Amino acid sequence: MKSLTYLSVISLFAAAMIMAFGMADLSAEGDPDVDPPLAPLGPVPEPLDNKITPEKAELGKMLYFDPKLSGDASLACSDCHAPKQGWGFSDPICRGYPGTVHWRNCQTVVNTGFLGKLFWQGNAKSLEKQAKTAATGGVSGNGEADVMEQRLRQTPYYVEKFREVFGTERPILNDAWLAISTFERAQLTQYDTPLDRYLEGEIDALSPLAVQGMELFTGKANCIECHNGAMLTDEKYYNLGVPRPFEWEESGLNAITFRFELYAKGSHEKYYREFKDDLGLYFTTKRPSDMGKFRTPPLRYILFTAPYMHAGQFYTLEEVIDFYDEGGGENEMTGRAGNKTPILRPLNLSDEEKEALVAFLEELSGEEIVMATPKVPPYEAFPDVAGLSQAEAKRIGLEFHLSAKAKN
Ligand code: HEC
Ligand code: HEC
Repeated sequence: MKSLTYLSVISLFAAAMIMAFGMADLSAEGDPDVDPPLAPLGPVPEPLDNKITPEKAELGKMLYFDPKLSGDASLACSDCHAPKQGWGFSDPICRGYPGTVHWRNCQTVVNTGFLGKLFWQGNAKSLEKQAKTAATGGVSGNGEADVMEQRLRQTPYYVEKFREVFGTERPILNDAWLAISTFERAQLTQYDTPLDRYLEGEIDALSPLAVQGMELFTGKANCIECHNGAMLTDEKYYNLGVPRPFEWEESGLNAITFRFELYAKGSHEKYYREFKDDLGLYFTTKRPSDMGKFRTPPLRYILFTAPYMHAGQFYTLEEVIDFYDEGGGENEMTGRAGNKTPILRPLNLSDEEKEALVAFLEELSGEEIVMATPKVPPYEAFPDVAGLSQAEAKRIGLEFHLSAKAKN
């Protein structure tokens, strides 16, 4: 008897392990049992090595609007993440560095302080790293680090502000990314949406139709499976079968960027030749099973960020709902890698239910965040005479500046 009990304990344990591992497998695709509920947005996380201060945020704001942080000093963050275009860009596929187009839809920067995985591919882990990638990437900022740094050093406004904020004698480019991230966290976070107010107990904050939409979202339509928690994303990756963008077939400029990215992000030669679509997470992991998977995007502020999906395949929220109602779609990777998420199934939504879902999605955004474009500071030759002796300064023709400085 005793040994039998012992055995059954072991088999129970084994069954539990199998279940646990089974669940772990499933949870990679979104486990039905562990979805965090929708929640109001808490305070924005503040990295220990980049504390938020109002002065740093103001400096970051100026840098965000300043085209000096790009290759030819023509393209600021705000040219692609434009305040009046939902802090993103309204074309399906984003504009690119002059002479190029981008290859993905431009995401909003609003509320990005809450994300642990940035970009459609989830391949930047912090706003600081992301800003640097944005300013230097071939089809985005295309900036050269030393040149961008010199530009800051020859701008008296920045020399003064970097000294105040970071305590450095001259601006250091890396600190620019810290300042921009601080601006995003401090000034581009939106707490006060109808959803937040509703979840905090203000039951009139959502219309009855939106409440019905929320019930569908968390119930029959099963959006909560992936769009959950305060940011409405599980930050996991799925291939929904979003169709291939037509631009890569019809526009030479788009095809150039597409081919460039396939190479630059490092795909297998065979895939470079054969694939005609964005391989998404595959570029990070190089696992064929990850082809065509993208990070679940957050759904806050989406009222202002059309078009939708990684290459702006859908113009309206209605189109997005129709796509899910049909159980998602098909693309090259759902066919070849066979990895369309099993979570999407036809939903059989009525017209009224679709309307309710859209009404709910619209309540995930508060007022539009408007901000006037600041006037960016001009260059001025800024000779570096600190620490030079009179003789050294004379040798490089700067003795005048040294004596002028000494007189002050
Ligand atoms: C040429 C246009 C362009 C410029 C310039 C640009 N971005 Fe972007 N940004 C994009 C596009 C397109 C994406 C999505 C790219 C992807 O996922 O591969 C993106 C993604 C992001 C994201 C990720 C959002 C998310 O939900 O994960 C952040 C944050 C961001 N950019 C901030 C910046 C900052 C800060 C700058 C300036 C230093 C900047 N960007 C410059 C086009 C641009
Ligand atoms: C299996 C996980 C999953 C489920 C379930 C799911 N989504 Fe998504 N959602 C995603 C992913 C991943 C993307 C990006 C896909 C892409 O671009 O290829 C996305 C994109 C979106 C977008 C576009 C966001 C943007 O910024 O472009 C909206 C809106 C959206 N989903 C709403 C919904 C709604 C409403 C439901 C329920 C009917 C739902 N989703 C169900 C994972 C999911």
